[in-house]
Amino acid sequence: MAETAEIVEVVETVVGLDTRFPVLLTLMRLKRNGAILDRACCQVIGRVLDHDPTEIQKVASWVDELCLSSEGTIIHRCVSISCTGNGAQALWAQIEPEMEALGLSSFVQPVHCLTCCETGPCLALGPKIYLGESEGIHHDDRPWREEPFDQDA
Ligand code: FES
Repeated sequence: MAETAEIVEVVETVVGLDTRFPVLLTLMRLKRNGAILDRACCQVIGRVLDHDPTEIQKVASWVDELCLSSEGTIIHRCVSISCTGNGAQALWAQIEPEMEALGLSSFVQPVHCLTCCETGPCLALGPKIYLGESEGIHHDDRPWREEPFDQDA
């Protein structure tokens, strides 16, 4: 487990970036630093961000799964219009360095839509979709989402 002071320092650094996605960004930075994203860690983050620790724990589990990704596990990044309008590019610009540091960039694929348009920007790992607006995790296992992205469609 990371020390409380270390967690608080990472959260405060992320908040200083004036990001709309402090939970995801904090968790990814902590993960990059080798922290264990356990319940105690999520409680500290929740206290500093005034965010429900149970919801943070769900995003933390998603980040843990992300870091276990292998070639068979693709991270879908919605590039469609609603997510773009909701800040998908800003989200991506902030997490791309974290993805690279975690060795995950090559597993990312763009996708047309993940069916959670109003609550995006969205990133999906299998049936679990990260919703940027609420920084929550939503489950949706409709198989058509797994189709490859066609740039010309
Ligand atoms: S536009 Fe991104 S989920 Fe629909």
